[in-house]
Amino acid sequence: MQPVIVRHKPQPERNFQKTNVAALFVTVELYEILTSDSRHPGYSSERERLMIINIGHSRLELVQGDITRQSVDAIVNAANSQLCGGSGVDGAIHSAGGPSIMADTQKRYPEGCPTGKAVASVAGNLSAKYVLHAVGPVWRGGRDGEPAMLASAYRACMKLAVELQCSSIAFPAISTGVYGYPIDLAAGNSLKTAVDFIKWHKAPSLVRFVLFSEGAFGAFSRALEEIVPQ
Ligand code: APR
Repeated sequence: MQPVIVRHKPQPERNFQKTNVAALFVTVELYEILTSDSRHPGYSSERERLMIINIGHSRLELVQGDITRQSVDAIVNAANSQLCGGSGVDGAIHSAGGPSIMADTQKRYPEGCPTGKAVASVAGNLSAKYVLHAVGPVWRGGRDGEPAMLASAYRACMKLAVELQCSSIAFPAISTGVYGYPIDLAAGNSLKTAVDFIKWHKAPSLVRFVLFSEGAFGAFSRALEEIVPQ
């Protein structure tokens, strides 16, 4: 079901602009939606800002909220390479999803997961089908391969989502918390990676970035406006 739109801020100059990839049309619209409406369980319970672009038949969304409350097929965890749990998104997912997520992860991946890759586990009490545990890079100034590793982590998740027949996936801003990746740099890299993947693979149908703070939402919305062709 579509969200209830209480205020619609169209950006007419951006509607129906053609991307560099032939036959793909991108529309950009800004919505403010009332998400406490129980008919719209795909979103969490606060009034949220939402930014949407359509890429072919897929949709990319930015939303401010809590990733554990998203109704999507796959929820991405910002994990560490030991997959041993932590704070931030990792703590929130294991806390909301329950112990079966850690039990399944430890059983399937006793060796952990390298940086730039992702693995799938059950989603426990979460409404998703899977949790995808992605390991982003620790920021060390940007000259240690961090941008390539961050893009690789996002691509690994999207590839896994397609393989697991997940039509919708929710990402946190991987590496931007404990791992210290500057949010503005992470935003551009992460969004460009997602947009490129959608263009080439024409899937998943929905890619949602769930940004925890207003600042993170602002950084991602600015970055998205920059990568959408003028
Ligand atoms: N929903 C969405 N985003 C969240 C949530 C949440 N519930 N909680 C935190 N965030 C945001 C943070 O504000 C940050 O912008 O997710 C982003 C990623 O932060 P971290 O969870 O710290 O992830 P990361 O920087 O990739 O560090 C990974 O932290 O918890 C450990 O085990 C984890 O060692 C690993 C490291």
